[in-house]
Amino acid sequence: LEVAWTLEEAQKGGYPDFMSKEIAQQPEALADTLVGRLHPVEGIGLDEVRIPEEELRRVDKVAVVACGSSYHAGLVAKLAIEHWARLPVEVEVASEFRYRDPVLDERTLVVGISQSGESVDTLQAVRHGRDNGARALVVCNVVDSSLAREADGVLYTRAGPEVCVAATKTHVAQLAALELLALHLAQLRGTLAPKRAGQLFEALAALPDLVAQAVERGPAVAAVAETLLGARDVFYLGRHVGYPVAMEGALKLKELAYVRAEAYPAGELKHGPIALVEPGTVVVAVATRQPLWEKLMANLAEVRARGARVVALASDGDERTAEHADEVLWVPPTEPLFSPLVDVVPLQQLAYEVARRSGRDVDRPRNLAKTVTVE
Ligand code: G6P
Repeated sequence: LEVAWTLEEAQKGGYPDFMSKEIAQQPEALADTLVGRLHPVEGIGLDEVRIPEEELRRVDKVAVVACGSSYHAGLVAKLAIEHWARLPVEVEVASEFRYRDPVLDERTLVVGISQSGESVDTLQAVRHGRDNGARALVVCNVVDSSLAREADGVLYTRAGPEVCVAATKTHVAQLAALELLALHLAQLRGTLAPKRAGQLFEALAALPDLVAQAVERGPAVAAVAETLLGARDVFYLGRHVGYPVAMEGALKLKELAYVRAEAYPAGELKHGPIALVEPGTVVVAVATRQPLWEKLMANLAEVRARGARVVALASDGDERTAEHADEVLWVPPTEPLFSPLVDVVPLQQLAYEVARRSGRDVDRPRNLAKTVTVE
C-alpha cells in the first residue's frame, strides 16, 4: 500500500493551501454561526450568553477589545450596536485598553473578540474590565478557551478550526455573531421597530448565499490581482462601515503579500495621505452603497486626477461607481451594515492572489503567529 498524500495535503482537501480552503468555507461558517440563533418570527435568541437579560437591559456602555482582524470586526460591531441598539460603544485594541485607565463600572459590558480565545492582550483587557466591575461577554471560536472561561458569557462563532495564520472564515463568523448581538441588544432595549427588525432578520438569513456568490467570483479577483503585481504602495479607502473593511483588506495585503498597504477613512485623504498619491499609486476603494457613497466618489475623482489607479468594490449593477474606477470588483448587495460580511471576501481573495503570484507562503507569512500569547 502506498500513500501518496501527506496528512497536511489530506487536510487541505484538494485545495492548494489552507487559506483558499478556509475562504471557500465561509458560507458554511456563517450559516453555522447563525443557525439556531436567528428565528424568522421571534428574532434573535442568544440563550447561551448566560448574562441575564435584566442585566443586559441595564448596560449603558459597551467597550469592545480585540486584536488584528478581530479588532476590525469590533469596529463594525460599534456601528451596528450604536445604530440599532442606541448604546454608546468604544472599540480599542486590547493591548492599549487596560493601560489608559478606562472608565468602567457594573453597567459596562466589555466585549472581547478573539478567534483563538488565547490572545493574551485580549485576555488581560477582559480581566481588567471584570476587575473594575464590568460584565464580560466573549465572542470566540474555540470552545473552553482561556477567554471563554474568563468571561461571564460566551457567544461562540462556529467556523471550525482555522489553520492559515491570516483570519478569514473566523472573521466573517465574528461579524455574524456581532450582528446578532447588536440586534439582540436592540430587541431587549426596544429600539428597533418590529417591521424593520423583520427585514433585517431576512437580510441576515440571506447572507450565507451572498457570501457564497462572492466566493465564487474568485477568478475575476485573480484577474485584477495581476494588475497589482509590483505595486509599491496601496491605499485602501472606505467610509462608514466600509472603513473597517478597508482596514481588514489592507491588513491582509500587508501580512500575506508584504506590500505596504494603508487604510484611511476617505474623508481624511486631504489631511495628508493624498500627498503620496502619484501616477501609478493603487487605490482600493470599498465603494458599495453606504450612506456616504457620494462623498467617496468625490474622493475617488481626486485621486484619479493625480494619476492613481482605482480598484473599486461595487454593488452588482452599480454603473455609477464603475465610472469612477479603472477596475471593478463586483459584489452582491445587502443591507449597508451587513455589507462587511460580503465585501471582505474579494479583499481576502485579492491579497491571496497577489501573495501567491509573488511566491509567498500564504498559510505561514513570515514573522507572524496564529495566536499571540506574549505581550
Ligand atoms: C494574530 C493573528 C491574526 C488575529 C490576531 C488576533 O495576529 O495572526 O489573524 O486576527 O492574532 O487573534 P485572536 O485569536 O485573538 O482573534
